[in-house]
Amino acid sequence: MKKATALRVWLTRSFKPFLFRGEADERLNFQEVKRVGLYVHIPFCETICGFCPYCKSPYESKKAARYVKALIGEIRMIGKQCAGVKEATSLYFGGGSPALLREYIGEIVEAVGGYFRVTQGIGVELRPSDVNVETLLSLKRAGVSKISIGVQSFQSAALAQLGRPAPDTAAIKSALAQVPFETVSVDLIFATPRQTFEDLRRDIDTAFAIGANHAAIYPFVNFSFAQNRGGTMGEREKRALLYRIGEYCEGKGYVRTSVWTFAKESGALYSSMTRDNFLGFGCSATSLLMDQFKINTFSVDEYINRVGETRLPTSLTLRFTRRQRMVYYLFWTAYTARIDPRGFEDTFGVALEKEFGLELFLARAAGLIEKKNGIYRLTRRGIYYYYYFEQFYTLAYIDKMWGVMRKTAFPDRIAL
Ligand SMILES: C[S@@+](CC[C@H](N)C(=O)[O-])C[C@H]1O[C@@H](n2cnc3c(N)ncnc32)[C@H](O)[C@@H]1O
Ligand code: SF4
Repeated sequence: MKKATALRVWLTRSFKPFLFRGEADERLNFQEVKRVGLYVHIPFCETICGFCPYCKSPYESKKAARYVKALIGEIRMIGKQCAGVKEATSLYFGGGSPALLREYIGEIVEAVGGYFRVTQGIGVELRPSDVNVETLLSLKRAGVSKISIGVQSFQSAALAQLGRPAPDTAAIKSALAQVPFETVSVDLIFATPRQTFEDLRRDIDTAFAIGANHAAIYPFVNFSFAQNRGGTMGEREKRALLYRIGEYCEGKGYVRTSVWTFAKESGALYSSMTRDNFLGFGCSATSLLMDQFKINTFSVDEYINRVGETRLPTSLTLRFTRRQRMVYYLFWTAYTARIDPRGFEDTFGVALEKEFGLELFLARAAGLIEKKNGIYRLTRRGIYYYYYFEQFYTLAYIDKMWGVMRKTAFPDRIAL
């Protein structure tokens, strides 16, 4: 049995695979959920990068306008299922390249605001070339308070490997100084082939020097359907690099806000995934609720058609057993590098130790977690194993699922 499967069987205490079926609920159960996050996907890019697995297609202005109309239609279909205005923690725009639709962001935010009151800010993912005064001002006017810039690297070797243009650091620095945001995050990728710690250290320093107050340092994933050059880094080297990144950032006084992210200032936070429950709108967007995990179609045309028929554009639905839902919860909570037993009990009405006493005991004995002031924290070793497991999860589950969904708008089923 493969490692990812064995772990799933053990944690869920069931041989049943995660079964995603080609079925959709037209009504979603989010009305009673206490903390819901919102995500909007914009699937358009000017140029397509070979390493990137996300759902995107070449930008066409007419198609983009039809997409926005459908997107607002989906927001309304779901939003009106809740009486009154529901509180939502955050709203994130990801892609793709959301700034290509900058003229529509205000309209989309307004549509969301008809049904949800966002309490912790609005975030938008940007390409380095989007970081100019005009775009930043238009985002600010739409209510955006956080931005995340997909730099990946400032080093020419890594950029060449990823097929990305060099970011104009002076222009970015100047625009950020003129138009400040509560959170300015920079995405960096680590463990690209032949990358050294010195390369990464320079990337981290440059990110903070040009005005970021938060950095997301993602491990490079070589998706089977991506067009990557140059292979991957060995596991031992990755581990050493991961440890050194942590030591370097913590030595500089940056606070680890999740397994991959570091904040230079308190209050700087950018994460669409660390939510107990979330609703996703747009192509390929996912929703995680107490009873199900669902994924919208990856096809822009089919998305527009479905919403045009006033049907939700759901492609696949996974219905959770209670135990599976708990494992999902723990997986995403552990991403923040801490697990608060009170949050678990609040969500499931049962003590964490009662459900996962053996797993917690073994994880502590193996030095993966430690308990301080009633909260479990991932140790340095725990962070590495989280990373290791997440890599398995990404390659065993996400790679397979996205590989199918890129080709088939509405598959019958996928068992993982
Ligand atoms: C939707 S993407 C890009 C956002 C924006 N369109 C850009 O190009 O800058 C969000 C982030 O995912 C990360 N990412 C994309 N592909 C990745 C891969 N194969 N491995 C690791 N991280 C990846 C990158 O850091 C990227 O900035
Ligand atoms: S990395 Fe960004 S610009 Fe490149 S294809 Fe992915 S979403 Fe588009």
